[in-house]
Amino acid sequence: MYLVTEQKTLQFAMRTRDDKLASINIPLYLPDTGLPNEAYVSTCCALWKRSIVIDDVYQETRFDLSGTRSFDAQNGYRSVSMLTVPMLLADGAVVGVLQFINHMDPDTGAIIPFAQDLVTLVEALAAHAAIALDNLNLIEERKAFMESLIHTIATAIDAKSPYTGRHSERVPALALMLAEAAHAMAEGPLAQFSFKTDDEWHEFRVGAWLHDCGKITTPEHIIDKATKLEMIYNRIHEIRMRFEVLLRDAEIARLKQVAAGGNAQEADAAYAARAQQLGDDFAFIAQCNLGSETMDQAQLKRIEQIGAQGWMRHFDDRLGLAHEELLTRQATAAPTLPARESLLADLPHHLIPRGAGDVPDPRFGFKVDVPPHLYNHGEIYNLAVTRGTLNAEDRYKINEHMIHGIMMLERMPFPKSLQRVPEYAGTHHETLLGTGYPRRLGAQDLSIPARIMAIADIFEALTSSDRPYKTAKKFSEALNILYRLKKNGHIDADLFDLFLTSGVHLKYAEKYLAQEQRDDVDIRAYVGPVSP
Ligand SMILES: [Fe+2]
Ligand SMILES: [Fe+2]
Repeated sequence: MYLVTEQKTLQFAMRTRDDKLASINIPLYLPDTGLPNEAYVSTCCALWKRSIVIDDVYQETRFDLSGTRSFDAQNGYRSVSMLTVPMLLADGAVVGVLQFINHMDPDTGAIIPFAQDLVTLVEALAAHAAIALDNLNLIEERKAFMESLIHTIATAIDAKSPYTGRHSERVPALALMLAEAAHAMAEGPLAQFSFKTDDEWHEFRVGAWLHDCGKITTPEHIIDKATKLEMIYNRIHEIRMRFEVLLRDAEIARLKQVAAGGNAQEADAAYAARAQQLGDDFAFIAQCNLGSETMDQAQLKRIEQIGAQGWMRHFDDRLGLAHEELLTRQATAAPTLPARESLLADLPHHLIPRGAGDVPDPRFGFKVDVPPHLYNHGEIYNLAVTRGTLNAEDRYKINEHMIHGIMMLERMPFPKSLQRVPEYAGTHHETLLGTGYPRRLGAQDLSIPARIMAIADIFEALTSSDRPYKTAKKFSEALNILYRLKKNGHIDADLFDLFLTSGVHLKYAEKYLAQEQRDDVDIRAYVGPVSP
């Protein structure tokens, strides 16, 4: 059998003899002139789209049969009769050519010519074969198309944030390594697990590639919220400017006091004290903005105290606002100017209402606590975030990638062989304790592949920088955190142990972790039953 390739050649593709396939690739059109290549039986059959019957190869003068003859010479064979049939589709396209050599008389075994009735039968068979081949090609094309679509989505998500880097690509790599290790287990708690077919592996791979597909909906300024006051830009500059105003107010007060004949020394001392205090206060607020340390009660109180100081606003703060933003201000009457403003404040226009479309669809069974507002830009509210830079609304927005991801995937008409993609993709933030999101599933709901996904996702996130204010963790630190999750029952203990005992942790580190991250780890402390 020869197949027509995309380069318009006939490629020798299959033969009935089981010796090695000769690599034959004959152009259907001559490379120098572009004219049809009519020297060979096979190419003529494909070009003319009709069967060619030859009764004796060695008497044949119409075609170049030197290839057949040299094959005979090498193999001690003798080609006599030959039937060459095109594989035609209904639209007239040729997908290949079937060639039969040496028709044998069923009674005597003698080589005889191919009779016309046989030619008709073989032509019908070739047409069937052409359809089957065409269907197979369509399926393969579709698979390749889908695969590339999935990679495009994953790459687009990774491109959204420089911090998450190549998460969508690395999680499947790690998940597959761990799945292969689990699949290979013949005994122990994971002996029962296996992917039985190529389709099942493919299904898992697709699920892993799409695990964060919902992140396509997450705004970048939330994914990468690097400081507490950041919205699209870091609002610390706006607040610093208010401190500048207060400092100038202090300077003006000093000058006025002196101008009015007051004690210059006293005025200087008051100014110096105020300048010192403003400097300290701003440094404190700026430090809080970083979110690099946890906040205690005393610090929260200090933010409020600093924020309560006033400054006078002389300009209309409703000028230059776009329609939407103006609406948020019009709920309250504009104060007369100059108006007293707080140094830091939580104001009504900082609250962005949650619309009907921002609430999860109840049909999907999500169990999440939805914050009342879509966003809260309150200055004190954000500075008071006790850990990291994300407030409750931001955190929900980030977690929402699972809600959007699951809704996208569960609505997609996956073929039967990919039915479990939504499950594999949609469970990596669930825990065996039932404390995860977005469905608070428990151990009974989480399959081995789902548990593998959770470990792969956490480990990748820990060993990449993941958040703008975080540096990538050392190998040992990440394993230690994962071990704590094993100890408290968040993740599957057997899979975590296998991650270490199989050496997958080292294989992954070697391939994906920076040299400076890869410190020594003694896995003996982590493997085996945990003491209560
Ligand atoms: Fe995720
Ligand atoms: Fe992820």
